[in-house]
Amino acid sequence: MRRLLPCFHGDGGEQEDTPNIAMAYSTSTATASSSTVPSGASGSINASDMSVESMQQRQYPSFVDRPANLRVFSFSELRAATRNLSRSLMLGEGGFGCVYRGTILNGSGSAQEEEVAVKHLNRNGLQGHKEWLTEVNVLGIVDHPNLVKLIGYCAQDDERGPQRLLVYELMPNRSVDDHLSGRAIGTTLSWRTRLKVALHAARGLSYLHHDMDFQIIFRDLKTSNILLDQHWNAKLSDFGMAREGPTEGLTHVSTAVVGTLGYAAPEYIQTGRLTAKSDVWTYGVLLYELITGRRPLDRNRPRSEQKLLDWVRPYISDTTKLKLIVDPKLEGNYNIRSVAKLATVANRCLARLPRARPRMSEVLDMVQKAMDVDLATSTSDHDQAPLHCYGACGEEDVKQRKGKKAGLLWVLLASLTRSRPS
Ligand SMILES: Nc1ncnc2c1ncn2[C@@H]1O[C@H](COP(=O)(O)OP(=O)(O)OP(=O)(O)O)[C@@H](O)[C@H]1O
Ligand SMILES: [Mg+2]
Repeated sequence: MRRLLPCFHGDGGEQEDTPNIAMAYSTSTATASSSTVPSGASGSINASDMSVESMQQRQYPSFVDRPANLRVFSFSELRAATRNLSRSLMLGEGGFGCVYRGTILNGSGSAQEEEVAVKHLNRNGLQGHKEWLTEVNVLGIVDHPNLVKLIGYCAQDDERGPQRLLVYELMPNRSVDDHLSGRAIGTTLSWRTRLKVALHAARGLSYLHHDMDFQIIFRDLKTSNILLDQHWNAKLSDFGMAREGPTEGLTHVSTAVVGTLGYAAPEYIQTGRLTAKSDVWTYGVLLYELITGRRPLDRNRPRSEQKLLDWVRPYISDTTKLKLIVDPKLEGNYNIRSVAKLATVANRCLARLPRARPRMSEVLDMVQKAMDVDLATSTSDHDQAPLHCYGACGEEDVKQRKGKKAGLLWVLLASLTRSRPS
């Protein structure tokens, strides 16, 4: 019987050694630079939220400095691309607004058309605008095959007020959440595809954490923010919550706590101190979602099963027990050795102490090994069947999404008592 690493709770009561230097960082006055607002954008930002302030002041090159790799669309162009934001072309709806399938000219000067996803901000107000701006700033500078590509944006005022839209590459196989929840019509994600999702998400995060001149903490990893292309390659999407990691000499950044319940790291919820290790924790949660097919927090289940991490804990100590929590939708079509390897990675990511968690680059190596085990030992074909029905979601789909939104609690806990571990 193969033993897995110790469970993610109870790894000693060691203290976190984090000097309180981030407070000075977080109390500086916000002075939004209008150079970060794209041409055509109405209104500048006058926010006191550090996540926007620091992005504007220090994290990302301003729009004027950056190579013009993003296209600027007019609202009428995007209305035409989506048949006037037609419900029949709606791909989904999130906290930011609705996402539509659309068709644009591919921008190379030829008459060739390209299919895209158009996200329309439906919330007026500062928070929505800040997320929109952060998304443009981050996706405008990152470039990685496992991050969704932002093609361009629209920031225009019309008679109905400010119009903020984002234009992405179309990800025809929708989100991982769509599949795990059974919303997408087609087969469930095979075990091999789940491993591929884990690997690609780790690559995307590792790039954000380690491969640029500055670190980006994603802060919003979850299955609905992992999109799948036509070959089932996974890409991270939704960078509205992203922010810069601590700069040299600092251990963390202090922020208002935002995220989705069930995903955020405990020390971040308690203290507002953000490090890349918060993403690592969330990645551990994601791995258990892929293994079990269950949501991190599911109020529709019996009380003892509502919190995924509490529910899995008794089962992760050996492979015989582990089989009991593997997603039944896989109908036994998985390699338990690679499942055990992935659970081992998850347990390491879910260490209580942030510094006990591996870096994303180490996580990536470990997940690659789990994939290698799967490729070497599995005899059956676990590759993902093509999805036969994708594209716009139906009325039922939209209703389900609305229900999901109600259950998803976005927490903005700025007023939370900041308790420093003693
Ligand atoms: N580039 C894209 N290509 C194809 N479908 C997409 C794309 N972007 C988003 N979608 C679809 O739209 C849905 C809604 O996405 P959105 O990011 O607005 O919200 P969400 O991730 O579901 O929730 P939240 O707002 O809480 O992050 C996704 O689940 C996905 O099905
Ligand atoms: Mg999303």
